[in-house]
Amino acid sequence: MRRFCSLVLILIFSAVFAGCGDKGGKSDKDLFVIGFSQVGSESDWRLANTRSMEQTFTESRGYELRMENAKQRQDNQLAAVRNFILEGVDLIIIAPTVEDGWETVLTEIKNAGIPVIILDRSVSVSNADLFLTNFGSDFLKQGNEAVKWMEDQHFDTAQRNLRILHLQGSYGATAQLLRTKALEVGVAQHKDWEFAAQLDGDFTEAKGYEVVKDYLRQNRDFDVLYSENDNMTFGAMCAFDEAGITYGENGRVKIITFDATKKALQYCLDGKIDLCVECNPMHGPGVEELIRKYRAGEEIPKHVYVDESVYTRKDLTKEIIEEREY
Ligand code: AHR
Repeated sequence: MRRFCSLVLILIFSAVFAGCGDKGGKSDKDLFVIGFSQVGSESDWRLANTRSMEQTFTESRGYELRMENAKQRQDNQLAAVRNFILEGVDLIIIAPTVEDGWETVLTEIKNAGIPVIILDRSVSVSNADLFLTNFGSDFLKQGNEAVKWMEDQHFDTAQRNLRILHLQGSYGATAQLLRTKALEVGVAQHKDWEFAAQLDGDFTEAKGYEVVKDYLRQNRDFDVLYSENDNMTFGAMCAFDEAGITYGENGRVKIITFDATKKALQYCLDGKIDLCVECNPMHGPGVEELIRKYRAGEEIPKHVYVDESVYTRKDLTKEIIEEREY
């Protein structure tokens, strides 16, 4: 009987340790292991970004990508990153939900000797040596492009100010902070521009719909929708439709949206959205290039911005939209 119990115990221990082995830092196949803390799956943009990373960091290219979806919560990210440290991964990539609150965990990663890449958004830390590089969009430039477009429209403000309905992304995220900053500076610089309201849409279609629908119960007096991502825009358009508010080229409200996903570009070509400001999610290849350089001991820049552009109806064709990857 004693011998039987010992055998059972050995089997249990082997099973437990075999399981741990799967999650260990060094891969059995000699792959370069990357721990990736992704923001969530809040938008079409985010899904495309995840796809780009998964398609790039594959086993056949010598990588093991361990991705954790934080469901838009920083505490989930902190837990995931601490796990990556315990696992002893080769490199950590963080797409931060918000800018603040990273100093401590980045110091822990540095002390563990693991290099870090900040993806998409940025972190606000006192010591820039805590990460290798920051790869993503120039969100302030995006916001400035939108403001410039508004200036170029020469809206008729002789009788009344231009009223802007501002739909904001998740508070504290770089994409929200800088797109908001550009607009707030624009409003401050134009005496005849004003906010009708600033609403929190959390970068999701459902929240965008909900807050705009709620707002429209009491207010309809606005001329422009400045929406900080496509999915919130789709939600707002749905609320406008239900309320009988016309928009786009032949409508009463002009729509500015950020991301320029396939669906938004199609709406733009159809005359329903006036301006699409591109936010390029295809980060995988660019990040891999940086990792290759880093591993080869080459210098890499501290901040790398992806190429992006802006689209109005006249810049678009069916072919351009069909070719788009997201
Ligand atoms: O940080 C990039 C932003 O986050 C994109 O504009 C948005 O769609 C996403 O959720």
